[in-house]
Amino acid sequence: MLYHTTDHAKIPRLGLGTWELRGDDAAYAVAKAIEIGYRHIDTAQAYENEEAVGRGIRDSGVPRDELFVTTKIWTDRIEKEEVVGALAESLDKLQMDQVDLTLLHWPVNDMPIDAQVSQLAACKTSGKSKLIGVSNYNQEQLLTALAATDERLSAIQCEYHPFLDQDPILKTARGFDMLFTSYSPIGRGAKGELMENAGVKRVAEYRGKTPTQVILRWHLQQANVAAIPKSSSEDHLRENFDIFGWDLTATDMKTLYGLIKPDGRMINPDWSPKWDTGVAEAA
Ligand SMILES: NC(=O)c1ccc[n+]([C@@H]2O[C@H](COP(=O)([O-])OP(=O)(O)OC[C@H]3O[C@@H](n4cnc5c(N)ncnc54)[C@H](OP(=O)(O)O)[C@@H]3O)[C@@H](O)[C@H]2O)c1
Repeated sequence: MLYHTTDHAKIPRLGLGTWELRGDDAAYAVAKAIEIGYRHIDTAQAYENEEAVGRGIRDSGVPRDELFVTTKIWTDRIEKEEVVGALAESLDKLQMDQVDLTLLHWPVNDMPIDAQVSQLAACKTSGKSKLIGVSNYNQEQLLTALAATDERLSAIQCEYHPFLDQDPILKTARGFDMLFTSYSPIGRGAKGELMENAGVKRVAEYRGKTPTQVILRWHLQQANVAAIPKSSSEDHLRENFDIFGWDLTATDMKTLYGLIKPDGRMINPDWSPKWDTGVAEAA
């Protein structure tokens, strides 16, 4: 299942997240995921696993041009206006000439958005990244970023799962024909409560699927949305990939949309921007 950008890139809408996977575990998960059929891998400088992710990709034996690889630039390098140099270091670690997508991992507070995004544009014009985008931007920051560069922003990556309303930013992404990549798409697995939710379990039971499969299917049945669940185990990787060839009904989708919580956001570090949704105090 591919998302076609207006700049003719094809982005697989199910990918592998790699946060908290390091060293041999990361290389194993990446190679195993690719063997299973995943063609989209998400890493970041902050995950300290780019070398291992690159190794896993090479171990898989699948040609580089059949894979979609994303990395993200951490805020310290954005602040120092070193984004292109930082991306060159990522490419060295990954042992690649180019990534498919480079994202600014978080907006830097107290730095104009246009100064952040113009550096990102240089990643594309230098040929080090095929596509560029941002992550963890709020609605206002995204609109500022879109206005600040002539280079197309192809993607935004944000937290998204049935507990979190992301409607405002999703609508903007669709309006600008951007891919919206859902991070923590299954609500962080056992670290969250989503997979234990009675509504999710009920839909899973009706459809003869697992809670994770139902949640991932919910993502992919939404326009412009991709999902990048992380897993370290072969069983989970297989389960999470087995979400094609069947559909949730409109009623199932509605049940999952009905699970939104006003404080549904799970990733909310000190440096977060002022979120549009999902934090109770802001509601
Ligand atoms: N841009 C950002 O700031 C940002 C922030 C957060 C995340 N991300 C990206 O998004 C990716 C995914 O988010 P995430 O890692 O936070 O959370 P997630 O993918 O929602 O959940 C991962 C957790 O779910 C478990 N899991 C996976 N498949 C399962 C299954 N079928 N059954 C039961 N448990 C399962 C995993 O454990 P096992 O390993 O045991 O399977 C892991 O503990 C990250 O890895 C990262 O690439 C980006």
